[in-house]
Amino acid sequence: RSVGIIGAPFCKGQPRGGVERGPDVIRAAGLLHKLQEQGCAVKDYGNLVFEEVVDDEPIGRVKHVRAVGSANQRLSEAVHAVKRDGHTSVMLGGDHSLAIGSIHGHSAAVGELSVIWVDAHADINTPLTSPTGNIHGQSMSYVLRELQSKIPVLPNFSWIRPCVSAKDLVYIGLRDVDPEEHYILKLLGVKVFSMSEVDQLGIARVMEETCDYLFSKVKKPIHLSYDIDAIDPSVTPATGTPVVGGLTYREGVYITEQVCQTGLLSAVDMVEVNPLRGQTEEEVQSTVSTAVDLLCGCFGRLREGNHPSDYR
Ligand code: ARG
Ligand code: MN
Ligand code: MN
Ligand code: MN
Repeated sequence: RSVGIIGAPFCKGQPRGGVERGPDVIRAAGLLHKLQEQGCAVKDYGNLVFEEVVDDEPIGRVKHVRAVGSANQRLSEAVHAVKRDGHTSVMLGGDHSLAIGSIHGHSAAVGELSVIWVDAHADINTPLTSPTGNIHGQSMSYVLRELQSKIPVLPNFSWIRPCVSAKDLVYIGLRDVDPEEHYILKLLGVKVFSMSEVDQLGIARVMEETCDYLFSKVKKPIHLSYDIDAIDPSVTPATGTPVVGGLTYREGVYITEQVCQTGLLSAVDMVEVNPLRGQTEEEVQSTVSTAVDLLCGCFGRLREGNHPSDYR
């Protein structure tokens, strides 16, 4: 297994400072070493440098449109390059608006994708339905083919080609969905395992059904977009938009183990870790170490234990 890590220190998809420190705190918690220890070849591509955008006035209600557009164009090219080099891409955010560029670059490199979006939120508002104007709550709308007629022309967004079909998208962990988002999800018939379904079915059946649903016909490469706020805030409080009633640490890790098992994982986003949102050092620590554990789970770490294949 080889992993290519891209740091995306970007926060303008939402209003709270600190989330741009995500890539550095996740690396500082030993991500590279841990992945290497479990047998991965790791290449760190470093942090992207995003251009300053001046006069980035809101368009309608939508904030920092030009900065988000240009940052994601950069990121899309970076993920494309990591895939061209033959690695599984790991994008460390940064806020969840970065999924636009990450999914786009991934698809540019490999074609059709399955997207597994693990989040308390659906992030599928269009620029017109968004109640907050924050683009991290809109990411999916820009890449979904079925929503293109609903997306107005925006500066620095013209490079985006919608590249995901609604039938190739599965949500897990939802519990804070805006009314317009709920309407969109129902209209498009998107597969959703909200926290209700996690309660009803248990995480094992949710993952079984996710894989049955996505792989019933052709097996497409998986894009796993993991918002740390999917996990319960008692475990991962250091994030911008925590919502009570989330996935347990164990459910969160189980998702990564099962995705790894498919052998189809091709790109991962780990987003919304914000060290400035923790009340104490312990809260930050718990959030960051959970993010690292989730990534280790994506790349073969098993809770039963592991040993190298040439072990004797
Ligand atoms: N639904 C809200 C909005 O559109 C919250 C989105 C939160 N998204 C996130 N990536 N944490 O603004
Ligand atoms: Mn290409
Ligand atoms: Mn979220
Ligand atoms: Mn999100």
